[in-house]
Amino acid sequence: MQTIVVRDYSSKDFKDVAEIDKEVFNAKNPAYDIYIYLTYGKDILVADIGGKIVGYIVTMDLDQRSGKIISFAVSEKFRNRGIGSRLLKSAIERLKSYGKSQIALEVRVSNKVAQNLYKKFGFKISGIIPEYYSDGEDAYYMVLDLGDQ
Ligand SMILES: CC(C)(COP(=O)(O)OP(=O)(O)OC[C@H]1O[C@@H](n2cnc3c(N)ncnc32)[C@H](O)[C@@H]1OP(=O)(O)O)[C@@H](O)C(=O)NCCC(=O)NCCS
Repeated sequence: MQTIVVRDYSSKDFKDVAEIDKEVFNAKNPAYDIYIYLTYGKDILVADIGGKIVGYIVTMDLDQRSGKIISFAVSEKFRNRGIGSRLLKSAIERLKSYGKSQIALEVRVSNKVAQNLYKKFGFKISGIIPEYYSDGEDAYYMVLDLGDQ
């Protein structure tokens, strides 16, 4: 099996990240999503297998003390082999290195796989945001207190 490398996004990864966005989130215009990530994202980390991007995670600053995960996905064929955990761990470490004491995110109430992964890393549900998604689904607001670790 080829080695998985988690590294910073570079512009040559655009096409692969756009493809994952389309596949995973059914993005109508993945280029627009990437524009958002590049505009608001502090870091975009990618999982690279032999030059092919199979997953990514985007974080942003909320304020000086807190950060947020704004997008996170692994291509379906590559799931359940620890790539999501590697990306999440690297994103948490990166935000920690910036002195953040809290990381927040939103997740669909139906998305138990992602919720379980976040819980494994210490995130806790701190609230519910009604009809957060465009299809009307609610979101859980989850928070990781880095001071707890
Ligand atoms: C959430 C996501 C990024 C996880 O990626 P991944 O590479 O599969 O993550 P991992 O391999 O590290 O697995 C994480 C956990 O999920 C579990 N898992 C993965 N796929 C699963 C599935 N289809 N059913 C049940 N559990 C599953 C794994 O068992 C693992 O738990 P464990 O470590 O206790 O065994 C990926 O499922 C994904 O892209 N989902 C769609 C987009 C999404 O939900 N993004 C987050 C939005 S908030």
